[in-house]
Amino acid sequence: MTFRIAQISDTHLDGGPGYFTAGFRAIAAHVNGARPDLVVNSGDMSLDGAANADDLAAARRLHDEITAPVRFIPGNHDLGEGADAPVPPGHPIVSEERRAQYLDHFGDDTWCLDAGGWRIVGINAQILGSGLESAQAQLRFVAETIGTAGTTPVALFVHKPLFHLSADEDVVGGRFVNPRPRADLLQAFGGVRPALVASGHVHQFFARRHEEAEHVWAPSTAFVFGDEKQPRYGLKEPGYVEHVLEADGTHVSRFVAVTGVPTLDIADYMHAYAHYLQPTTGRADPR
Ligand SMILES: [Fe+2]
Ligand SMILES: [Fe+2]
Repeated sequence: MTFRIAQISDTHLDGGPGYFTAGFRAIAAHVNGARPDLVVNSGDMSLDGAANADDLAAARRLHDEITAPVRFIPGNHDLGEGADAPVPPGHPIVSEERRAQYLDHFGDDTWCLDAGGWRIVGINAQILGSGLESAQAQLRFVAETIGTAGTTPVALFVHKPLFHLSADEDVVGGRFVNPRPRADLLQAFGGVRPALVASGHVHQFFARRHEEAEHVWAPSTAFVFGDEKQPRYGLKEPGYVEHVLEADGTHVSRFVAVTGVPTLDIADYMHAYAHYLQPTTGRADPR
């Protein structure tokens, strides 16, 4: 049996002007037409839900337009920035209180689903390395779900990519899972390695095989970061990713472009994040 997942990501939806709602709606309509078995939003559902619960509520409501079952994992804009690396001043940091607010709107931040001969696991990237109690509980959850998967192929959904090219990278920052929490996570996998690691956050489509796994980054439905703000790792275009999982453990992941959805550059929407304007640079620093 084939199991088809449509991965949307970084929708950055708000409860006010609706900066990025049109693109979301066009992509959601395309996803509905494709009739996947499951839709996963890999985080940053909201524009600024970590600071403004109205954005969480609006983002959750807009996902009711999707006809397939939808699962969510949190991103930094939903839950706050990770606590394991420096962040620009004024940005919310992940906490158990913000996590509780997120759970009220989007349900479990860690989940496991067995379907189509695969084990599909979603985790919360924002608490990794945070020292929060929920971070320890999540590592136990990972050990219990991925660590016991045996020969069942695993697809892991996590907001931030585990790394750019290699698990040995030592960069500490906000773009990828940081080295220490990455090591903890890989240890919790036990001897199991996911066949597919699907992430968001970078607002680019990128796919690369590393050892046993294919690492696939979904594009944003909302906006891209210009080359002056962010390196070009892959494709800076809006869209979504279709993952076709086969029961024999093979899979195909492909970028899906949706006609009529423009490529918006966040540099033209800095007013959406105006409350985070940095005095030194005069610009906001969303990521
Ligand atoms: Fe994002
Ligand atoms: Fe993000």
